[in-house]
Amino acid sequence: MSEYERLDWYDLPHYYDVVYDEDTPQEADFLQAVHKRYANALPGPWLEPACGTGRLLRELARRGEAVYGFDGNQAMVEYAREHAPAIAGSTGVYRVEKGDLADFFLGTGFAMAFCLVSTFKYILREADAVSHLRAVARSLSVGGVYALGLHLTDYADRQADRERWTGERDGTFVRVTLNMSAADVRRRREKVLCHVDVRNPDGTERRLESSWEFRTYDAAQLRRVLRAVPELELIAVHDFGFDLDRANQLEDDQLDSVLVLRRR
Ligand SMILES: C[S@@+](CC[C@H](N)C(=O)[O-])C[C@H]1O[C@@H](n2cnc3c(N)ncnc32)[C@H](O)[C@@H]1O
Repeated sequence: MSEYERLDWYDLPHYYDVVYDEDTPQEADFLQAVHKRYANALPGPWLEPACGTGRLLRELARRGEAVYGFDGNQAMVEYAREHAPAIAGSTGVYRVEKGDLADFFLGTGFAMAFCLVSTFKYILREADAVSHLRAVARSLSVGGVYALGLHLTDYADRQADRERWTGERDGTFVRVTLNMSAADVRRRREKVLCHVDVRNPDGTERRLESSWEFRTYDAAQLRRVLRAVPELELIAVHDFGFDLDRANQLEDDQLDSVLVLRRR
């Protein structure tokens, strides 16, 4: 069995896209339902901070939304640009920039913003998390909403955790295994070790290893960050089932939370 190559797997966006694109239509359905219910279908463009390969932007553009996104990884930005959807069936507005979650400005008047799958936890410093939320608030029109999805941490759980996804497209098979350490309670960090096993269409294989740290949040810690940005009002909580009919509270017993924050 070959050794793992150490590299940031976000530098190889195609593999990311193969493994995570399967859920895209369901997530896009959810986002459109959130926009309708909580933003009253407010007109205006949509924004995705840390858009990665642009999988959600593409889907939403095909459905007729005007979409803007940014990402900190140049390879991701290039991939998202190269895979811009065909204009037919879309508004033709699909713009992707390089940018940082902690501070960004792509304009104002957005009706909807979204950042799912725990990406917010890449922001390691509290001040930067607050700055991120302020930048979102500045971007949104009054009445616009931000759907923010993240996995909360149960600090009492001292077990390491493992999650696995697989995907296939045009003969490329990708399996991603995330190994999460128990949280460092004092530093508010969890270590993530990511193994990516790939079989390419020509039969060659690659094994990649990346690692990073996430900032951890329980419900009270997340509420504290939200209090620092009163321009955004928490109006609903859902979960990673992406089902609008299932409403939750921001509580520690609901670890997979999607917050709906409305611009006052
Ligand atoms: C899990 S992916 C999510 C991508 C996309 N939002 C999606 O749902 O598929 C996380 C993305 O966050 C980006 N990222 C991490 N830290 C960032 C930062 N500080 N600023 C901008 N992008 C960042 C990575 O480059 C990567 O593309």
